[in-house]
Formats: sequence, C-alpha cells, structure tokens
Amino acid sequence: MYSSKAALVGLGLTLAQFVQQTSCKPAQLFSDSSVFIAEAPATHQLSLSGHPNPDIFSSPARQRHKAIYSGKGLETVNTIFSGVYPVLNLTWLGTKAQQFVAFIDTGSSDTWAISSDFQCLDLETQAPLPQEACQFGTLYNPALGSFTNITSQEFSIGYFPENETLHGSMGYAPLRLGGLTVPKQEVALVTESAWSGDGTSSALVGFAFPSITSATYRGNGSQAIYDPVFTTMTKEKIVNDAVFTLALDRVPRDTSPKAPAGVMAFGGLVSPSYYEPPFTTVPIEETSGIQGLSFYTISNELIYRRKNGSIYSSGTYQSIVDSGTAPNFIPSAQAADLNNQFEPTAVYNETLGYWTVDCDAKAPYAAFKIGGKVMPMDPRDMIVRSLNGLQGYENVCFSAFADGGPPGNGNIYIVGEVWQLSYVVAYDQGRSKMHFANRAPY
Ligand SMILES: *[C@@H]1O[C@H](CO)[C@@H](O)[C@H](O)[C@H]1NC(C)=O
Ligand SMILES: *[C@@H]1O[C@H](CO)[C@@H](O)[C@H](O)[C@H]1NC(C)=O
Ligand SMILES: *[C@@H]1O[C@H](CO)[C@@H](O)[C@H](O)[C@H]1NC(C)=O
Ligand SMILES: *[C@@H]1O[C@H](CO)[C@@H](O)[C@H](O)[C@H]1NC(C)=O
Ligand SMILES: *[C@@H]1O[C@H](CO)[C@@H](O)[C@H](O)[C@H]1NC(C)=O
Ligand SMILES: *[C@@H]1O[C@H](CO)[C@@H](O)[C@H](O)[C@H]1NC(C)=O
Repeated sequence: MYSSKAALVGLGLTLAQFVQQTSCKPAQLFSDSSVFIAEAPATHQLSLSGHPNPDIFSSPARQRHKAIYSGKGLETVNTIFSGVYPVLNLTWLGTKAQQFVAFIDTGSSDTWAISSDFQCLDLETQAPLPQEACQFGTLYNPALGSFTNITSQEFSIGYFPENETLHGSMGYAPLRLGGLTVPKQEVALVTESAWSGDGTSSALVGFAFPSITSATYRGNGSQAIYDPVFTTMTKEKIVNDAVFTLALDRVPRDTSPKAPAGVMAFGGLVSPSYYEPPFTTVPIEETSGIQGLSFYTISNELIYRRKNGSIYSSGTYQSIVDSGTAPNFIPSAQAADLNNQFEPTAVYNETLGYWTVDCDAKAPYAAFKIGGKVMPMDPRDMIVRSLNGLQGYENVCFSAFADGGPPGNGNIYIVGEVWQLSYVVAYDQGRSKMHFANRAPY
C-alpha cells in the first residue's frame, strides 16, 4: 500500500485518521488471514545449543534421509557438512533424572537413548566391540531410570549404506524437554548398535508423524505404529496448539558449543524478535509412496541464477523440511547445473558424493519458492566449510546443494538446514500446514 494525499482524500480520510487506522492495525502475522498462531508460553520456549562436537564425521543428524521408507526404518546416507546441528537436553526421569544430548530431528519420528549395557558391533562384520568404539555420549543407567517394557515390541532402525544400525526395546518412560514433562512416552532403549558416534550425543528426538515410527511386533515383524513425543504432547494437552517452531542459528566457526544457537517453541510461535512477518502457509502433503502424513513434505520450486545471467526455475516438486539434514538435496540435473554456476565451478567428488568448492568461490543466487514466495539462501550458507576438526577436511568446502537423485525412484528431496538458518519454520501438525517467515537479521 502506498500513501499519498490524493489517495487519502479519495478514501475520505484525514491524515490523522489514516495514521491512527494504520498504526493501530497490527502487522499481518500470516499471509493466509484464516491462520493465527499465538506465541508459545515462555516456559515452552527452549534455548538450543549447537552440536557440542560438530565436526565429527558421522552422526544421525547429518545423515541424509534416503528415498525409500522401507517400513523397517529410514535409510540414510552420511553427509559431511560442518555447522550447527541443533540439539536439546533430553531428560529421562526415574529415581534420578538423567540428561542426554539429543538431536532435534524433524525428519524422523522415534525418540531413543542408549542403554549403559549396550553392545557395540562392528559396522561391517557385526563382530562385538568394546562400547567406546561406538563413540556415544552419556549412557542411560537402567538402575536410575523408569522404563516400562512393551515386551511385545522391539526397535530396529537401519542406516544405508554405512550399515549403521540400532536395535533395542520399546517401552514407556517419563521424559522432560525444557519446561515440558511427558509422563508416559513410548521410547526406544537401544541395547545393540553398530554406530560411529561423535563422543557427545547419545539420544535423538524425532518430531515427524506416527506413520514412520520404527517399532515392530516381535512375533511377526510388522510395524507397530505409535505416537511420537510431539503427538503425545498434543493429545495430552501438554501443549495447547499442535504446532512447534524452530529458529536455528547460523553458528560461525569456533563458536563455543555452550553459546545459544537458536530456539524451539512448543505449542506456538517463537518470540517475535526472531522473525519478520508475515508467515507464508502451505499444506503438509503426503509423501509419494507413503500413506498419510509422514514427513514434513511440501511442494516447492528451485530457482537459481546462471553465470550467463538467466534465471532458471525448476517447476514444482516435493521436498521434506528436515532439521536433521544439513545440505539441500535437489534433483540430479539441477544439482549438476546449479553447482556449475559457482565461480570457480564446484566439482563433484565421487568418493564423498558431494560437490566440493573453493572456500572463496562466488556462489550463485539460489532460492526455494514456497507458497508463491521466493525465499533465497543466504550467500553465507551457500558454501559450507567442513570439517574444522576432521583430519584432512579442515579446509574442504562444500556446496550447500547436493544430489538427491533423479525424479521418481522414490527419491525424496530435502530443504536442508543450511536454508532453514534464514527462516523461522512452524511445523503445524494440528492444521496440517507449514509456515515460513523470514528470520530477523542476526
Ligand atoms: C543442557 O544441560 C547442561 C548440563 O546441565 C547445561 O550445561 C546446558 O546449558 C544445557 N543446555 C541447554 C541448551 O539448555
Ligand atoms: C552393508 O551390508 C551389506 C549386506 O550385509 C554388504 O553387502 C555391504 O558391503 C555393507 N556395506 C558396508 C559399507 O559395510
Ligand atoms: C523387554 O522385554 C523383552 C521381551 O521380554 C526382552 O527381550 C528385553 O530384553 C526387555 N528389555 C529390557 C530393556 O529390559
Ligand atoms: C502382528 O502381531 C501383532 C501383535 O500380535 C498383531 O496385532 C498384528 O495384527 C500382526 N500383524 C500381522 C501382519 O500379522
Ligand atoms: C544461459 O545458459 C543456459 C544453459 O546453458 C541456456 O539454456 C540459456 O539459453 C542461456 N541464456 C542466455 C541469456 O544466454
Ligand atoms: C575426493 O575426496 C577425497 C577424500 O577427501 C580425496 O582424497 C580426493 O582427492 C577427492 N577427489 C577429487 C577429484 O578431488
């Protein structure tokens, strides 16, 4: 809307009336005026920390969810991007509360921790190894925690192609996340794992839908779908509104792991200081190949500028919004073309499965268009330096865009965490919608 004397006169308003009317009207919070979500209570807004040990090669939160959900578990591929991997403190109650560093994963649905009596297995041979070889953080002590075994079910999840696996028991446990207590949550207690951890994390909280939980019946191996932790919070009215919101910070290299790295709000929006309204709203869609809602799947377009100045637009395709995957995974042809637009050109490394790029390269303009709004990548997030600590990778930089495979074949594309660092994302299970607002500059 523009303001001019003629327009005001035409509307029959005095300037004073005009100013009063416009200034009394709050900025529109949602571009879809039928939507309103309140800010979550302060006690339901958790400060996040960056991953305390972000530069370890292998961790679930930097694994790419591969195309096909087999019914047995998510198949994932390791990625090797440095940066912030959001974690929260997960408290498991009992005679004594136990606290774990847990990944916040909107791309899966199970919540698990590792039992102190777990058996570590070799990734390739499955031979028993000492526990240290799996490199987990704090382990769950069964003598101190409350766990009611669901004896008819077990937990089994596999990670392709590294063959990382977790096995264990399903049971009910009292959990706490920040100011929220869930008295009875179905969780997985892991007793066997072939894993390559980071020395710090030992738990994960999956925030996606029930249909992709990974419990099975012991008798017949069929999937035993259950309510993930956020579904429980909603059903038991632990939150008033079935929505949670993430504002994930870009954490510069060498930031202390103790520094806050964003915020997660349960039951509403984060504080308005994090975003610039309005939120753009789109439906959460079914993922092709999976019935009902499973991941936070949306339709998006990919837009980027070529070296010759032309703007490419991909047309619409589906992606999942996943806090637990660092890069954006896009269709193969676009990934190759977009990575050619870096100056100098990004180079595909067959061994790594990613495009590496000169750390000082000029990155092309790239954006996702979601719900009619073009939402660009921040140039700072287009080139990801990896890995600060891993020998041999200290000065290797990666393109933020990776190959998600050709369309079809059950491939699922991902709007990754590198993009999410510039936006506030509300995951609205109650309305089956996603809401995206620009992040206030930080
Ligand atoms: C998690 O818990 C540890 C130990 O109590 C504490 O030092 C840390 O600040 C907590 N982190 C967050 C993000 O609350
Ligand atoms: C994973 O397991 C399969 C079958 O057990 C095997 O063929 C493959 O080589 C293993 N891959 C790795 C990376 O160990
Ligand atoms: C849970 O019950 C099953 C079936 O009886 C058993 O095999 C498993 O060891 C139990 N898990 C724990 C953690 O006690
Ligand atoms: C598997 O076992 C469970 C529990 O006994 C039962 O509810 C379910 O219907 C069975 N599924 C199949 C496919 O047999
Ligand atoms: C720019 O390059 C693309 C791909 O090579 C080509 O299709 C397009 O026509 C070119 N546009 C201009 C303005 O040269
Ligand atoms: C690909 O990455 C590997 C592992 O870092 C490295 O040894 C190799 O030289 C790279 N290949 C190319 C072509 O850059």
